[in-house]
Amino acid sequence: MSGIAMSKLVVALLGVLFVGMLSAIIALSVVYSNEVNANKEPAAPAPTEKTTPKPSDITTEKPTARPSGKPTASPSEKPTPTMRPGPWNNIRLPKNLEPISYKVKLWPKLEPDPITKLYTFSGDSTVEFRCLVPTDFVIIHSNKLNYTAKGGHLALLKDSSGNDVEVSSSWLEPKNQYLVLELTAPLQKDATYTMVTEFVGELADDLAGFYRSEYTEGGVRKVVATTQMQPTDARKAFPCFDEPAMKATFDVTIIHKPEHKAISNMPIIDEKSITVDTIIWRETTFNTTLKMSTYLLAFIVCEFTYIEKIENGTQIRIWARPQAVYDGQADYAINITGNILNFFADYYKVAYPLPKSDQIALPDFAAGAMENWGLVTYRETALLYDPVQSSNGNKERVASVVAHELAHQWFGNLVTLKWWNDLWLNEGFASYVEYLGADYAEPTWELKDLFVMSELHRVFSMDSLVSSHPLSSAEEDINTPGEINELFDSISYSKGGSVLRMLSSFLTEPVFVEGLNTYLLAHQLSNAAVDDLWVHQQQAVDNNNVNLPKTVKEIMDTWTLQMGYPVIKLDTSNGNVTQKYFLIDPEAVAGRPSPFNYLWNVPITWKKDGPISTVWLLGVKDAIFPDLQSADKWVLLNIDEVGYYRVNYDVANWNRLLNQLQTDLEMIPVINRAQIIDDAFNLARAKHIDVKLALNTTLYLVNERKYQPWQATISSLSYFKQMLDRSAVFGNMQKYILQQVIPLYNYYDNLVGSNWNDVPPGHADQYNQVNAISLACSYNHLPCEVKASAIYKAWMENPDNYIIHANLKSTVYCVAIAAGGQAEWDFGWKMFKETSLATEADKLRDALACSKQTWILNRYLEYTLDPAMIRKQDATNTIVRIASNVVGQSLAWDFIRANWEYIFTEYGGGSFSFSRLIEGVTGRFSTDYELKQLEQFKADNQEVGFGSGTRALEQALERTKVNIKWRADNEKRIDEWFIDSIRP
Ligand code: BES
Ligand code: ZN
Repeated sequence: MSGIAMSKLVVALLGVLFVGMLSAIIALSVVYSNEVNANKEPAAPAPTEKTTPKPSDITTEKPTARPSGKPTASPSEKPTPTMRPGPWNNIRLPKNLEPISYKVKLWPKLEPDPITKLYTFSGDSTVEFRCLVPTDFVIIHSNKLNYTAKGGHLALLKDSSGNDVEVSSSWLEPKNQYLVLELTAPLQKDATYTMVTEFVGELADDLAGFYRSEYTEGGVRKVVATTQMQPTDARKAFPCFDEPAMKATFDVTIIHKPEHKAISNMPIIDEKSITVDTIIWRETTFNTTLKMSTYLLAFIVCEFTYIEKIENGTQIRIWARPQAVYDGQADYAINITGNILNFFADYYKVAYPLPKSDQIALPDFAAGAMENWGLVTYRETALLYDPVQSSNGNKERVASVVAHELAHQWFGNLVTLKWWNDLWLNEGFASYVEYLGADYAEPTWELKDLFVMSELHRVFSMDSLVSSHPLSSAEEDINTPGEINELFDSISYSKGGSVLRMLSSFLTEPVFVEGLNTYLLAHQLSNAAVDDLWVHQQQAVDNNNVNLPKTVKEIMDTWTLQMGYPVIKLDTSNGNVTQKYFLIDPEAVAGRPSPFNYLWNVPITWKKDGPISTVWLLGVKDAIFPDLQSADKWVLLNIDEVGYYRVNYDVANWNRLLNQLQTDLEMIPVINRAQIIDDAFNLARAKHIDVKLALNTTLYLVNERKYQPWQATISSLSYFKQMLDRSAVFGNMQKYILQQVIPLYNYYDNLVGSNWNDVPPGHADQYNQVNAISLACSYNHLPCEVKASAIYKAWMENPDNYIIHANLKSTVYCVAIAAGGQAEWDFGWKMFKETSLATEADKLRDALACSKQTWILNRYLEYTLDPAMIRKQDATNTIVRIASNVVGQSLAWDFIRANWEYIFTEYGGGSFSFSRLIEGVTGRFSTDYELKQLEQFKADNQEVGFGSGTRALEQALERTKVNIKWRADNEKRIDEWFIDSIRP
């Protein structure tokens, strides 16, 4: 049996066995239950004692009480047979009940059960809630938890005097992830009740809810129990009203081994020893939280250590594997955290709301980081940094992720959006202000100038597809965990951040922060919606007499309620300015109707040779602005690309701008130099301008030394490369790119000495150095390839002492592994397995995908199915890296088709990784044959589905069609242009 088939079988068997085994484990957990769970009935609802309904009866059959004293059935993964109408069929919680407080005690077992081999946790919980509207049902979220019966039911219910409230039946609804209690008499309005439960769950390695992470230290395997609740997995740790507006306080208690540490959102208030079956355990209790949402809870049991600082009375700790802490990998994070907390307290004008701030790096973590209130969790690469072995990019990643998560401690945690449909405001806001917070910690890096490259340009391409979507979703459209997870996309993050940056700019920053401040104060410890923020921004506008042509809401609605963005075209011959919905596919028509007919309220900043001014194009197609007329001087629009739109000009003005670049490029701000390139290439793709005009924007690059324009070029040309690197045109493209990049390559090569082990001082200049070298190498500049391979070889021969500069490691590894064979790959793999530094492991893992040998790449793909080889958190990314290699593309595509069911089961529910997988593997698709394959793939897997990658699949289909047309229309003309532009 192949490894894959074997692992599938194991997964299936475990699924079947799990339910029964958990029941057995309940029996063993003497602290919580003396009852023997002999009952192995299938899923809820419980069939009646007397008459077991036939399947056809179930729709009308009411679930009734189990015989008292007997534990209940466990939830299974099978769909529930309950079709009986009732509020449990609604995916949203009823509004009758409102939680007040929870007392949760959890006991994760960090060793597998000796018989079942499963890792589990047990727990008990008391939730106090108020009845707002009388009801016969208690409906609360619960997923994959197995309950111990109490008084014959899944839970015990008491009124505020401590008297039992009679439950007539109780059952689980796996479909909507509910635990349901049916009562003999309705709960009373305004009365409070408590519900008590005991349960067991699996501490699986699935990166969701209460889960297990593993690592080895000194050859010994260590297990960590940790949590990831957002968006809908708190219900997998204990029964709770798991919606963001259902705020409550939490008293968390954790039972653990004395040698382990327990951490949670709040400081410890009590610790005591308890003895169970002669074994001594530790019971750690945490202080009551502030009123907060379930998705922000966290609790962790581990053998980590920490380093600590006190900043303005707030205890700050960074936790990690002991080895990582001893090696100094947590030092950078502790040095910047205090500054960043101070920055945000000052920015929001609201003190940090909690007594402590813990941040912890976990060996297995699905996202990059999670803003749990007072206990932020990270993947190791987002928090840990080694000054010698990590690159400046790794350092920036730590600064910006820390800033992002700390920004949420106020915006998101203190004030939380009512429902997930407004997620974009939470994530978009943090994605914008992370640049401000990180800039405060690292003022010399000029991070604010990098926003455009990392966020705006990235999302512009996504948002120019008809399969994009508006920032705002209607509340009723976002219901299932899949729909919620799908919202964590680049629209929410990068478009959200971009439109808020634009807002802050046209309000001016002092006004924007005043609006933020009053919004936070008005809604603290509670919830808000996007419109509430606009109300507060409007108040700030009015207080400060800011002159706006429309209200904040009127302006912002055009950016948030309709998808896409406009291209603004200026005709300098008459000052006429028009706006048009920008779609990358020249033949596409807007898919869905827009409430504003795809017209926006656009703040247009512009500059000739004088100062910057602003005009507004207000929801109309065009207008004449006489100031923008120009006969001889260039006019530049969208200064520093603060506006969320592209810009086009009449050809004469384009040529004036290109002339300026050729003669004195400093006259055009550096971000606008990048903008000109990015806009021109995309306008050409959409057939607004000639592709030769777009290519002309790269001619001046022989004199360009700055990072942003080069980065814009690389991303623009990466599209050409993706489309052309398997075609005959590629040879000429390669010659032209090398001709342009070699001056830059030589500049850095001379600057940094013979082994690329010196770097320029500027942060962005360091990026540009890496870009120059990797661009030259990737277009096969022989001296570059030879040098990279020699450096790698020197390292292979002396792995303990030879040092490659951290910034250049990724490039050197990739080039050498691509040029090399099995020896280079196997050495890279060995170093990957041995390193204790996550950033180093990631560099190697990426580079291992650069091999040009089919069999090596296929073997590597297989490794992604085995968590002992490639961690689950890295599996989809590794497949994407292989697909981005021209040799690996078709192998990766074959691989995901062959293993779709497994991949979907493991990763289909996740947030980022799954859509990125689909995007990554299909990025090169540009032939009819590939389109047919993709359509077939969609048809073949209708049944299994595409989960959080549903939209990504639609986007892939749309993109493939656009690519096919693009190649047909452009290949020849591009080739001509390259031939004309190559100097002999
Ligand atoms: N809240 C998110 C983490 C998250 C993402 C939870 C998806 C559940 C589903 C967190 O604030 C976040 O945005 N993390 C980013 C890092 C950030 C710097 C963009 C991430 O995980 O990549
Ligand atoms: Zn976030």
